[in-house]
Amino acid sequence: MSIVMKQVDKTYGEGATAVHALRGIDVEIPSGEFAVLLGPSGSGKTTALNLTGAIDDVTAGSLVVNGIDVTTLTTDEQIAYRRSEVGFIFQFFNLIPTLTAAENVELVAELTGHNGGDRAREVLKLVGLADRADHFPAQLSGGEQQRVAIARALAKEPPILLCDEPTGELDFETGRMILGLLRDLNRRNNQTVLLVTHNAAVGDMADRVLRLRSGMVVDDLRIDSPVEAQALTW
Ligand SMILES: Nc1ncnc2c1ncn2[C@@H]1O[C@H](COP(=O)(O)OP(=O)(O)OP(=O)(O)O)[C@@H](O)[C@H]1O
Ligand SMILES: [Mg+2]
Repeated sequence: MSIVMKQVDKTYGEGATAVHALRGIDVEIPSGEFAVLLGPSGSGKTTALNLTGAIDDVTAGSLVVNGIDVTTLTTDEQIAYRRSEVGFIFQFFNLIPTLTAAENVELVAELTGHNGGDRAREVLKLVGLADRADHFPAQLSGGEQQRVAIARALAKEPPILLCDEPTGELDFETGRMILGLLRDLNRRNNQTVLLVTHNAAVGDMADRVLRLRSGMVVDDLRIDSPVEAQALTW
């Protein structure tokens, strides 16, 4: 169970306006690893995340996630894959303003059956928001909103969490708290985490740091003794 990219290429558009976003990426992320993807703006970080989550198609190369060849999935299979294999956490929490925290978790997690509400409360408790379940996003702090977004991603118990600048909108303390929460979940549930950030300091808490530049992996570092998120400074 892992993410295996071999010579992955991604080109957006065609002809004169084509953008070669990824150029021959070779990466293997074992199950349960907390991997941080660093790199300057435009280096291909979000593209790599989106390909892994099957929200975008690989142009060339092979991408196998948890034994599933993501490059050959039909549209329906991509939807099933996204539901069962991955949870997304974004920079802008992407909560629906007219729904409460619990309803946001229920709806977006595509929970079915009459236990959906219980499950939503269960995962909100997991992220420390049991007492905020019936609040609307506007009544929550940035850190609380991001915790709702994490709860939403967790509700499906996906083996992989894909996080794109999850602390980008948060202040330092709150950002660290969210990183600590993601690390706890990674350890507790053995969920693989692929976390994109501009912030090189975050690499210190990871098992693995990959650096992208111009669509290529220019550095691939294993961290033997990662620090706790609370010990990070930037
Ligand atoms: N849908 C798209 N159509 C055309 N070009 C795109 C598209 N998405 C991304 N690109 C281009 O692909 C390259 C990589 O983009 P990507 O979003 O992966 O970068 P990034 O590393 O996530 O950057 P940032 O740190 O700014 O979020 C950029 O040159 C970008 O302009
Ligand atoms: Mg990006």
